[in-house]
Amino acid sequence: MNFKSILVFIVLSALVYAAPSHVTCSGGRRASEAACCKWFDVLDDIQANLFDGGECGEETHESLRLSFHDAIGFSLSAQRQGKFGGGGADGSMMAFAEIETNFHANNGVDEIVEAQRPFALKHHVSFGDFIQFAGAVGVSNCAGGPRLQFLAGRSNFSRPAPDLTVPEPSDPTNKIFARMGDAGFSPNEVVDLLISHSVAAQDHVDPTIPGTPFDSTPGTFDAQFFVETLLKGSLFPGNGSNVGEVLSPLAGEFRLQSDFAIARDARTACEWQSFITDHKLMVSKFEKVMAKLAILGHSAHDLVDCSEVIPVPSKAKAQSAKLPAGKTIKDIQHACAATPFPVISADRGPATSIAPVPPS
Ligand code: HEM
Ligand SMILES: *[C@@H]1O[C@H](CO)[C@@H](O)[C@H](O)[C@H]1NC(C)=O
Ligand SMILES: *[C@@H]1O[C@H](CO)[C@@H](O)[C@H](O)[C@H]1NC(C)=O
Repeated sequence: MNFKSILVFIVLSALVYAAPSHVTCSGGRRASEAACCKWFDVLDDIQANLFDGGECGEETHESLRLSFHDAIGFSLSAQRQGKFGGGGADGSMMAFAEIETNFHANNGVDEIVEAQRPFALKHHVSFGDFIQFAGAVGVSNCAGGPRLQFLAGRSNFSRPAPDLTVPEPSDPTNKIFARMGDAGFSPNEVVDLLISHSVAAQDHVDPTIPGTPFDSTPGTFDAQFFVETLLKGSLFPGNGSNVGEVLSPLAGEFRLQSDFAIARDARTACEWQSFITDHKLMVSKFEKVMAKLAILGHSAHDLVDCSEVIPVPSKAKAQSAKLPAGKTIKDIQHACAATPFPVISADRGPATSIAPVPPS
């Protein structure tokens, strides 16, 4: 071989080596591993039949909440003592629904567990995989949403998680941080997890007003939640006050006591404030912390990366949140000692009031 043909040989073998090996799944979609193909079929089914055609609505919110409540059944201190403190993201909430959905903090979770179960059974996937997949697909439907990692291959075997692994909104921050720390999350990572509440509503803290959102844009994955939780509270959207509820700043908006307290806690106030003008940061922090949550009790090495199945969410409209109409900077209870409250624009018009998330 002369020099030129050696060069051609090197280039060609480099090309062959670098060419990604792909398998083609249904609908001509490509996956890196054959094991991922079935998840495209699950995707099509749940987008059409669980999420009402790919909406960021009630089932999406509930599925994201369920991905937390299943996974957080996990305890490092129990492990150290050789006890069983829950298997993490193992599907035990579905396998042992008759036990776990009766725990007080899981109030209302039974509805989404039973809505999801037939899909998991039909597609022969483990309950643990399904719950994390549905949470990731669901939140991808929210405008400006994250594209969460999805690793498949959790065992379908689980044991019931013990009670009291899920924090309550009436818990003091110390108790919440201790419980979350016992699952491996720092206080700032709790804030990162609470980005989920940017697409949230309540049905059970005040059952008389189901569908009451936590911010003015519950269908959008944006930082309005982080601004609005820092506003002075003045009203209850329903008949308040309920356990775990505190005064909210806007008609039709619901405020959890735990969100109020974590937003103002000296340990977490700066992380809270950091998302207000930085949508990119908010998305990347959520993707990172959810990747950790979704595999609690597992090792990534034992799972197959099927993240390519998760849809790419639509782009965010703005990097920065706004003050709701009718509010000024004077209504903000600034709590981050290190950084001034950012300069953000205010929406014009009459004072904001918020419509409930319609049940479907
Ligand atoms: C500090 C810990 C947390 C507390 C105390 C808490 C508490 C709550 C409460 C009381 C509700 C209202 C449920 C209802 O009445 O229907 C709720 C809703 C929700 N939570 Fe959390 N949560 C926490 C962390 C998380 C995390 C880590 C996630 C996900 C990663 C999450 C996702 C959601 C979602 C998406 C909803 C809305 C459900 C819906 O609209 O139906 N939460 N949370
Ligand atoms: C997972 O376990 C449940 C029982 O907890 C069972 O009904 C279901 O068929 C199992 N799924 C798979 C894929 O093995
Ligand atoms: C609120 O409380 C009042 C007085 O107790 C009651 O008449 C009304 O039905 C309650 N509203 C709701 C939505 O439960």
